[in-house]
Amino acid sequence: MTIALGIPRHRPSAVDPSSYRLPADRPGSDALIDRFGRAATDLRISLTDKCNLRCTYCMPAEGLPSQPVDALMTADEIRRLVGIAVSTLGVRQVRFTGGEPLLRADLVDIVAACASLPDRPEVSLTTNAIGLASRAGKLAAAGLDRLNVSLDSLHPDVFALLTRRPFLQRVLDGIEAAGHAGFAGIKINAVLVRGVNDTQAAELLDWSLRSGHQLRFIEQMPLDADRSWSREGMVTAAETRESLSAHFDLAPDTVPRAGAPAELWQVRRRGHHRLLGVVGIIASVTEPFCGDCRRTRLTAEGGVRNCLFAHDETDLLTPLRAGADDDTLARLWQGEMWRKAAGHGVNSPGFVQPERTMSAIGG
Ligand code: 5AD
Ligand code: SF4
Repeated sequence: MTIALGIPRHRPSAVDPSSYRLPADRPGSDALIDRFGRAATDLRISLTDKCNLRCTYCMPAEGLPSQPVDALMTADEIRRLVGIAVSTLGVRQVRFTGGEPLLRADLVDIVAACASLPDRPEVSLTTNAIGLASRAGKLAAAGLDRLNVSLDSLHPDVFALLTRRPFLQRVLDGIEAAGHAGFAGIKINAVLVRGVNDTQAAELLDWSLRSGHQLRFIEQMPLDADRSWSREGMVTAAETRESLSAHFDLAPDTVPRAGAPAELWQVRRRGHHRLLGVVGIIASVTEPFCGDCRRTRLTAEGGVRNCLFAHDETDLLTPLRAGADDDTLARLWQGEMWRKAAGHGVNSPGFVQPERTMSAIGG
């Protein structure tokens, strides 16, 4: 079945969702297990597909048709689904993403609702930090545990080229305010784009180390609206390491990754002994970590996706609004995760980019 954006969705409401049975080959487990021995414990929730930036690797210049407000999950609906995820399905971490989650007027309420659940998950936020300056304190008070901020350049002109908006200073103000509000160990996500900011890796690292933030470089994935991603255009993790090595000595970090996608490197100034910090390099395309994936995703419209690159979703919001009980919603969620593919397939010849862009899935 197809909806406005051409996104294929499973609409369990077409049949009575309470009669949905899990596949017979699935072992009886409450956890979000799949056929490849993985169990998802990390939930990513997109709160809106709207954004106030237009990063070239994510959104088209003119933006995307956004969903009507009543198609989005409300704060209560999010709390209900997160409650099921933590009490029944074994989810331990919840991260809110977008689009840009700060564009939700009720973000603080959503965070507070999830942080006050019994069996509280760790609650984090991925944001571009625009508008964070005025809300960082309220988010901290609501119980937000951790913060990831996307920032690809410290030069106003390059930032504006990449995001198509002249808002670098607002981002820097947001990050600074978050530090004052008590957020420690803020993670900075950077995507390097060839010919645009690929010479700025060391500079970003230098700034992050001095500011006390943990920088992570993410290989660009084929999730852009313009469909202009190319393997040659992508700056690889190996290239990023090489470019950092001109200024820094990198040594593999000894802490086990435990499902985390970033490979961590200890950073020292070239030829010096003092450890300055760590940098993460996420080789999503060249060294996929799908075998250890612990993610399950909810779109802003309440669709479960088992992978960023999935072509299908299971709609939970329609049955929820039609009165489905917790047990039914849990089963639909388990069924979607059971059919998770072994990997994203970006490196396979038959790879087809999903309909949804990063902004409409949530990173
Ligand atoms: N490839 C890799 N990372 C991306 N992001 C957005 N689009 C892409 C892409 N195509 C990143 C953003 C943000 C996080 C949610 O995902 O920079 O930090
Ligand atoms: Fe907005 Fe994030 Fe996409 Fe940039 S990457 S356009 S900040 S949703």
